[in-house]
Amino acid sequence: MIQFQEVTKIFGSRTAVNKVGFNIDQPQMVGIIGRSGAGKSTLLRMINRLTPATSGRILFENQDILSLKGGMMRRWQRDCAMVFQQFNLVPRLDVATNVMLGRLNGHGTFKSLFNIFSASEVNDALAALDRLGIVQEATKRAEELSGGQQQRVAIARALMQNPHMILADEPIASLDPMNAKIVMDALREIHERDNKIVICNLHTLDTARSYCDRIIGMRDGFIVFDGKPEELTTAAAREIYGADENFNEAATSTAIDAGRSGTQESAGVMTPAAAAV
Ligand SMILES: Nc1ncnc2c1ncn2[C@@H]1O[C@H](COP(=O)(O)OP(=O)(O)O)[C@@H](O)[C@H]1O
Ligand SMILES: [Mg+2]
Repeated sequence: MIQFQEVTKIFGSRTAVNKVGFNIDQPQMVGIIGRSGAGKSTLLRMINRLTPATSGRILFENQDILSLKGGMMRRWQRDCAMVFQQFNLVPRLDVATNVMLGRLNGHGTFKSLFNIFSASEVNDALAALDRLGIVQEATKRAEELSGGQQQRVAIARALMQNPHMILADEPIASLDPMNAKIVMDALREIHERDNKIVICNLHTLDTARSYCDRIIGMRDGFIVFDGKPEELTTAAAREIYGADENFNEAATSTAIDAGRSGTQESAGVMTPAAAAV
């Protein structure tokens, strides 16, 4: 489905993403983990064309998405919806309109300027909000909502784009554990029910383990781990986080218990207690 070939981003003297290559061959939920500065956001933003790549290729269904221009590029940006740490809603606009802005790329400037949405778009927005459990907030201004609710609005806006995939850049980094769980559950549900690729940057290992089918670890722009959650041993986690013998997984924890089972029981998996070496 999507292939990364020697994807590189250089900012001045700093190589943020260094010849990264991997494939996602089926609709997986992929967690990208690593320390701050590892290159996670840059990688995600190159997929969505928010950051131009320096070199390399990203192919989706064999089409080179890094060379798309104009309307084709905007179409692609709609096809891979972004969810951001800071939600990126328009604070003074009501929730339903924020969700409908997910369709903006499909409108001409005139319609966009005057906020004219069709009845079916309003219905779709309300359905998306209902799915996220916040339809009752539809007429409130976005700024009146809690962080967790705002992130759910942002996910509803992403759904409104009817995307091929969802790219979430630290979607729970600003949320308390309870809201973090609600947001991660929502992303997982979209992956499972709609069979969509979800790529999620997470700086905490336990969340990636609980929710993702596959974990990619980045360090200094390189991929240093790519495997299933149960393959992520203490040694692999140390390699990703560059930690010394004092490494403690609890330091990378958001303390979400996803309540999902069956993924963490294999031998060799580090429990927080075992990691506190
Ligand atoms: N716009 C930018 N200009 C210059 N350097 C940048 C820019 N964006 C990111 N970087 C650098 O690229 C590296 C990777 O950053 P980033 O992708 O944000 O990492 P992460 O999301 O893993 O924290 C860091 O060294 C960061 O300082
Ligand atoms: Mg980042």
